[in-house]
Amino acid sequence: MAQNKEHLIPYLTKEEIDELVSNIAEEIEGDYQGKEIILVCVLKGSILFLSDLMRKIKLPQKVDFVSLKTFVNDEGSTITSIVKDITTQITGKHVLIIEEIIDAGRKLSFLKNRLLASAPASLKVVTLLDKPARRVINIKPDYVGKTIEDRYVVGYGLDDSEIGRNYSDIYFLKN
Ligand code: IMP
Ligand code: MG
Repeated sequence: MAQNKEHLIPYLTKEEIDELVSNIAEEIEGDYQGKEIILVCVLKGSILFLSDLMRKIKLPQKVDFVSLKTFVNDEGSTITSIVKDITTQITGKHVLIIEEIIDAGRKLSFLKNRLLASAPASLKVVTLLDKPARRVINIKPDYVGKTIEDRYVVGYGLDDSEIGRNYSDIYFLKN
């Protein structure tokens, strides 16, 4: 079922998103001149961000995908586990994790530690949106499109119960 448009408050237009993505691409290009990069896209929310970002970064690059699951176990602890791992060899490579949004930071912290175990030459985190007010784990992205307040957003890959990923703009969800 589609979200009722009355429940969506416009936040970022596709033009504004495009500008944020261009700015990040420019920064990355400047920082990685003469190097090959590996983009690790965190499914599913980052797919649109990745597809736009990778086309704007004019550097030799490879892309891979990871899927993570977060759940609360019987003891009440939040556990993150891997559903789909990358298949690219990242040892000695320059790796960038591509996230659409960082919230509590659990997924990112788990993924960073896991990738670091493979000894990449460098590992940095790129996020379109950052919600630092929600952080549970002290973790900072290296490239941020925009810092946002603690409100739920949908569109441009971001979902509300799997709905809304295909919207070109990003909206606040009215509750
Ligand atoms: P965390 O940083 O471990 O909490 O995980 C962040 C994940 O939560 C993101 O990759 C999204 O899938 C989801 N998420 C967090 N905030 C939002 C939001 O405002 N809209 C849609 N998904 C969100
Ligand atoms: Mg989600």
